[in-house]
Amino acid sequence: MGAKRRLGVGLMGLGVVGGGVAEALLNKDRLLAEEIGCQPELRKVLVRDRAKRRTVPVDTALLTADPEEILGDAEIEIVIEVIGGERPALEYIRQALLRGKHVVTANKEVVAKHGAELLKTAREKGVSILYEASVGGGIPLLLPLHRSLLANEITTIYAIINGTTNYILTRMSGEGMSFDVALKKAQELGYAEAEPANDIEGRDAAYKLAILATVAFHTIVRPVDIYCQGISRLCEVDFRYARELGYEIKLLAIAKQRAGTVEARVHPVFIPREFLLAKVDGVYNAVQIEGDLVGKLIFYGRGAGAQPTASAVISDVIETGRAICGGEQRGTQSRPPQTMTIRPISELETRYYLRMSIADRPGVLAQIAKILGDRSISIASVIQKEADDATQSAEIVIMTHPARERSVQESLSDMEGLSVVREVGNLIRVEG
Ligand code: NAP
Ligand code: HSE
Repeated sequence: MGAKRRLGVGLMGLGVVGGGVAEALLNKDRLLAEEIGCQPELRKVLVRDRAKRRTVPVDTALLTADPEEILGDAEIEIVIEVIGGERPALEYIRQALLRGKHVVTANKEVVAKHGAELLKTAREKGVSILYEASVGGGIPLLLPLHRSLLANEITTIYAIINGTTNYILTRMSGEGMSFDVALKKAQELGYAEAEPANDIEGRDAAYKLAILATVAFHTIVRPVDIYCQGISRLCEVDFRYARELGYEIKLLAIAKQRAGTVEARVHPVFIPREFLLAKVDGVYNAVQIEGDLVGKLIFYGRGAGAQPTASAVISDVIETGRAICGGEQRGTQSRPPQTMTIRPISELETRYYLRMSIADRPGVLAQIAKILGDRSISIASVIQKEADDATQSAEIVIMTHPARERSVQESLSDMEGLSVVREVGNLIRVEG
């Protein structure tokens, strides 16, 4: 048998994911050659700092800080972008496509914000851009949606798609670990974004939800269409009440479509402890999708980390390589996107958990109940713990029946105006 044709690969980024990808490219070169039919050859690796000490066994002669060494190399046919962030990654991806190179990326921010433009450029140039690793780390999600589930109308997505926050919530809930310590551990394990506020404030999950909903609903859902609230307001006491009431707290990404409208939101949620999603712990992610034919499906696996993410990146490299070397085409968008209206969060109807500190005096609960009642918000249960004599205040927790978000927010403003309400501690939506 003659030597296989070489397939030039340029890697942009050699951090957590880039390191995992480089190792897999080197360690699995025979498997890759067999699967693709060509021999992938890592020709250059773009980094910010060439002098940095690295543990990945990549030949230092391959390292460069000049993107042109990849973008301008005619032998490089596939560019893998794992730098992260919007810029300069967006410009590098755009340039790679414009110069006729295929792209594989794990960059959810770029895909969520600029996916439509990049896919158009790729189509015009006769190349591909694949991004399986951008959502759910190692879990195959986009390929099943693009291929195996095409016969379905997908109606709902309930997802835990940020490993960092799920890791933090699990440790806070299970071990009473502090937020700061749990975040530091998630960073040490390589789960967090370079800017961890993107994880904590829910933006990373919103980028991923935008990508999932766009693919699943055959429309365009942008990050700005998604209501987004992170986990930074959650306190130890919220976890205690959640346990007492039979719930877990998770950061959920939720998208639903019906009658030409889409609802998309990311926020902490009380979910019943017996639900499967409530049992998803640590860095694990889970995505529950409901289709009209298939019913409910759950995809579960490691949502972050070097090796799981490399698994998704390398699978996209194999797909791309097969198309280049064997002419096998992967369809990524056959139906034209449908126009759908985004439903604002104010129209949401769900149940709520409300924790507040009030003056320990007769008639206070009645005032609060009146504010809720005036807006047709029905109380399902109230918990009041022992009052604090020193401050003469008491903590109460109200669970509501389903209510309109707009009415709940208006009631909160009214309550904050009452002199007997010392502090509104937290408002958390309840699912299930
Ligand atoms: P990371 O550890 O911070 O690594 C980033 C890499 O890019 C580093 O090698 C860095 O170079 C290089 N880089 C950064 N800015 C650059 C610039 N301006 N020019 C050239 N090189 C630059 O990030 P990561 O965790 O691997 O994440 C990479 C991407 O994968 C992100 O889009 C992230 O959202 C996505 N992702 C991450 C995970 C995960 O578990 N970490 C999972 C799924 C998807 P130096 O090494 O010289 O600093
Ligand atoms: N920071 C991301 C997370 C990485 O924690 O889920 C995986 O996309």
